[in-house]
Amino acid sequence: MTEQKLGVCYYPEHWPAALWAEDARRMREIGLRFVRVGEFAWSRLEPRPGAYDFDWLRRAIDILHEAGLRVVLGTPTATPPKWLVDSMPEMLAVDAQGRPRKFGSRRHYCFSHEGYARECDRIVTRLAQEFGAHPAVAAWQTDNEFGCHDSVESYSEAALAAFRDWCRRKYETIEALNEAWGNVFWSMEFMSFEEIELPNLTVTEANPSHLLDFQRFSSDQVVAFNKRQAEIIRGHSPGRPILHNFMGAFTAFDHFALSRDLDAAAWDSYPLGFLERSPNSEAFKSRYMRVGDPDFQAFHHDLYRGCGRGRWWVMEQQPGPVNWAPWNPAPAKGAVRLWAHEAFAAGAETVCYFRWRQAPFAQEQMHEALLLPNSKPNEAFHDAARVAQELAALSAHVETRRAEVALIFDYESAWAWKIQPQGQDFSYWELIMRFYRALRRAGLSIDIGPPTGETVADRKLILLPGLFTACESLVDGLANSSAVLLAGPRAGSKTEHFTIPVALPPGALQSLIDLQVRRVESLRPGAIIPMNDGNPGYFERWREFLALGGEAAVAIASRDGECALAQCGKRYYLAGWPDETLADAIVSRLLAEAGIDALRLPQDIRVRDNGGLRYIFNYGPESVDVSSLVGEARLLLGDVMLAPCGVAAFRRDEI
Ligand code: GAL
Repeated sequence: MTEQKLGVCYYPEHWPAALWAEDARRMREIGLRFVRVGEFAWSRLEPRPGAYDFDWLRRAIDILHEAGLRVVLGTPTATPPKWLVDSMPEMLAVDAQGRPRKFGSRRHYCFSHEGYARECDRIVTRLAQEFGAHPAVAAWQTDNEFGCHDSVESYSEAALAAFRDWCRRKYETIEALNEAWGNVFWSMEFMSFEEIELPNLTVTEANPSHLLDFQRFSSDQVVAFNKRQAEIIRGHSPGRPILHNFMGAFTAFDHFALSRDLDAAAWDSYPLGFLERSPNSEAFKSRYMRVGDPDFQAFHHDLYRGCGRGRWWVMEQQPGPVNWAPWNPAPAKGAVRLWAHEAFAAGAETVCYFRWRQAPFAQEQMHEALLLPNSKPNEAFHDAARVAQELAALSAHVETRRAEVALIFDYESAWAWKIQPQGQDFSYWELIMRFYRALRRAGLSIDIGPPTGETVADRKLILLPGLFTACESLVDGLANSSAVLLAGPRAGSKTEHFTIPVALPPGALQSLIDLQVRRVESLRPGAIIPMNDGNPGYFERWREFLALGGEAAVAIASRDGECALAQCGKRYYLAGWPDETLADAIVSRLLAEAGIDALRLPQDIRVRDNGGLRYIFNYGPESVDVSSLVGEARLLLGDVMLAPCGVAAFRRDEI
């Protein structure tokens, strides 16, 4: 069992060396255990080509070590210095309009540029040689937020050459590629791989099969870039976990695939910034503007726990107003504390705040931190100290168990529906969230995993909304499972080459659910399809017309007489995008059928289990009496009259 810990992101290179020892002492004093350093420091680690300066970093790490802190060392490859860019300007990524992206911020590189990749090998090797065996270095972070600032896709010469190679490896003959993509349409056929272009700047939309393969290729380039670093680090710093800090609501590369080369996943959690940027209604944003969406963080905790095969961190936790959202409100009193406990409840090994001291200069000077720029404590400093004490009192350990419910999340589906949404508001992300929220409103702790047999094994309920194609391992896993299953809308509606299956949707899933989808329609905002027979709720955005086979029955019909929810034994197919009410009704029906107990939670209350511990969170503006959820149990944390931003915890077996 791993002990749960707090940490902080620190930039010694931003401050006079005279401050470091006092900083380290105060970090330790408030109970922090980890410090992440180094991830943007290339211009100080190698100020001139080949002239390394590791002394300052060694001094900083030594000081942290002496204070009893452990270090997460970041590789600095998200910020190649000016001299390097000038020495090979073609390493810059090129945007979809064909313009090179310039030096002057960060992430200014193309994942396909071999010259840059070799420079990364070099700096990572040197760093790992210098610090790989340092007793304070307890973990590594590769690069920083792969893909941030739209940096996954690049339309450079390097990307073009690499994409042609990728296509050659995948299809072997150009005839096979032409066939797979359907290039006969609009005379798009190629005579050789050398003729293939990148799918930008086309007159109207490019071929979806071409776009999907370009997205797969771009994702593979990120995975390969990370893998190179991970292998170098492992060679020089064996036994130390390698992590990467993923982002929120970000799908441009396959995080499950990349995580296979990591020892644990991590993500950067900025609840208020993400809420402001989200597609939620104005009313929703106003209600939660200081505490964050009650389900957004939890969703990512589950997603990245899945990526990390059970091991995950929050590498950056919002401490106060950030600088990058359209509006940047301050957290409610207690919200920063609540966020940390929500992460620990979901099994985080470590939660690190971003950052130690607010920088008075450069891009992020408006981003708050644990300390003000003058080193005086800011609000989150006290929140962190309190969480550290509470963690000790809870003696909290990571103890997650396999959840009874699995929600399938698939990066390719996110790409597919972005490429061909068919209805402007068909967002895979929002569809998944619709079901995730319904499950969480029912008080469930959920596992999120990729579409494989392993994810679905040993579950009671499996949901795969919007899964664009079902691979063999998944179909076999589902066939062998006795779980209740919900598929649709749009599940299995394409082949892996982005064509409509000859047998019609839901394609390979027809072996499990006996029906065909014969027509789909997308619905403009305000157009709804109500349900029949007193069933609450309606379809919005998207609906399908089904032809049922002999083994399928209508479980819910729409008022216009179509099958809205089809049933084949314990397997269901949903023929549309449910509103919240319908999603809740369907989820409670599935839970009852699966024999899973749902909780009746007040609007802003959420519950989460970490092994034997159960946590309750209040995301609302009022105190809520949660005694009915606590029963006879003795609270280890909090109060049954749960204040706004309140957290309660108790042992489940005492209920
Ligand atoms: C993250 C990033 C950090 C910092 C932070 C500000 O996306 O990894 O370096 O920019 O945002 O909120």
